[in-house]
Amino acid sequence: MGQDYLKKILTARVYDVAIESPMEHAPQLSARLGNQIHFKREDQQPVFSFKLRGAYNKMAHLPAASLKRGVIAASAGNHAQGVALGAQRLGCKAVIVMPVTTPQVKIDAVKARGAEVVLHGDSYSDAYQHAVLLEKKHKLTFVHPFDDPDVIAGQGTVGMEILRQHQGPLDAVFVAIGGGGLISGVAAYIKQVRPEVRIIGVQTEDSDAMAQSVAAGKRVQLQDVGLFSDGTAVKLVGGETFRLVQKYVDEFVRVNTDEVCAAIKDVFTDTRSVLEPAGALAVAGAKKWVEQHRARGKTLVAIACGANMNFDRLRFVAERAEVGEAREAVFAVTLPEERGAFKRFCEAVGPRNVTEFNYRISDSSEAHVFVGLSISKRDESAAISRAFKKAGFANIDLTDNELAKTHVRHLVGGRSSLAKDELLYRFEFPERPGALMRFLNTMHPDWNISLFHYRNQGADYGRILVGLQVPSHEKKELRSFLKNLGYRHWDETDNPAYRLFLR
Ligand SMILES: Cc1ncc(COP(=O)(O)O)c(C=O)c1O
Repeated sequence: MGQDYLKKILTARVYDVAIESPMEHAPQLSARLGNQIHFKREDQQPVFSFKLRGAYNKMAHLPAASLKRGVIAASAGNHAQGVALGAQRLGCKAVIVMPVTTPQVKIDAVKARGAEVVLHGDSYSDAYQHAVLLEKKHKLTFVHPFDDPDVIAGQGTVGMEILRQHQGPLDAVFVAIGGGGLISGVAAYIKQVRPEVRIIGVQTEDSDAMAQSVAAGKRVQLQDVGLFSDGTAVKLVGGETFRLVQKYVDEFVRVNTDEVCAAIKDVFTDTRSVLEPAGALAVAGAKKWVEQHRARGKTLVAIACGANMNFDRLRFVAERAEVGEAREAVFAVTLPEERGAFKRFCEAVGPRNVTEFNYRISDSSEAHVFVGLSISKRDESAAISRAFKKAGFANIDLTDNELAKTHVRHLVGGRSSLAKDELLYRFEFPERPGALMRFLNTMHPDWNISLFHYRNQGADYGRILVGLQVPSHEKKELRSFLKNLGYRHWDETDNPAYRLFLR
């Protein structure tokens, strides 16, 4: 069986459409991890992922009569583009069934390659069922995204290139798993040629059908899968891929969303390229494995397998990369609602960079502040929490709290019956390390602060929203206070958004 795959991979036809992608040393990540890390740059393929290898190999091996009738696939992702490009190159008709919810950019990308798009159903499985129907009706050939020996062999050419490009010591290869086509091909090849190289599969914690199936000794169907890493969101792995993974894959690593975001950043730092979440999974897995095994001096390859990233996701990725990389800790801190407490709190923060500061008055005796701080290593958040406590501030470490990081940080605020005489000001100041602390120290007005919102966006100017409770007969003092402060500012007290949601 292994012999069969070795031959199938060696004779696979992929280079009509695919490039032999570069294998690159990642100097910065290697230095940080104390291991030699190499990226296999499948993100540089013409459709920005490895998927065209398997799809093309499948189509190139079809009899002429089948090619003439055409092929069909169900996919809203990288497989769709691989099939479309392959069919275009072979001059054959391709029908791609996609869920009706598919974003227009993906529909356009597939159409631009000359494929016919059929929109059907709300989910991938609806689209799949419909594709099976059309396959029979129009006598088309189904090109499966992973569970097909020719598709697996096409993906296996990635493993062949890795061994050809890297002939020195090699300890492990990390591979993202969705349905398991890529890892099956890569593992089948590498285990025939260099069986000592460990093959490590990487999955997200919320989409780990393959790892669960191998643990159970049978294919396990997941009810729900996390969609962040959409390229690997598969509920049921293939029969053939399951068989090959059981035989050849040495171990599995599971990673969370924050770790994937951090890996996207690591790859960017070394290459200035942006991977999609599934594309960075193997890098996140390699980092986690190094940490879990305290590995040093090893040579590791991570397959950077895709770069079809939606631009609008970058903001989320950048935000979560900091937590995933343990560069930001977030806390809920309770301050007594009294003059000077704010300043004492700033002193307890010390020289650290404040990444976020959200507060809304809600209680006459206590204030709950949502605060984010830059840190340099994971266990630093516990030390900061202890320091706050010592300074008299009860606090909760929210660094690993999903609800807090995704929602609550954006919801701090709302209307308050305690915000009497409140005026709302927006301030800007040049953003640089320590700038927020300087702002707070310069500020200490006599008026109570009833609202505060700051998030370091990595922008040129720090943008802050402050609510100040100023009795109407003290307006003159306020004007001279603002003048002395010297920061650019805008009175937003009459802004309808403030009136509607915060007042
Ligand atoms: C970028 C990317 N990575 C990984 C995968 C998972 O591949 P497989 O289903 O062969 O395990 C896919 C599948 O579409 C993908 O597009």
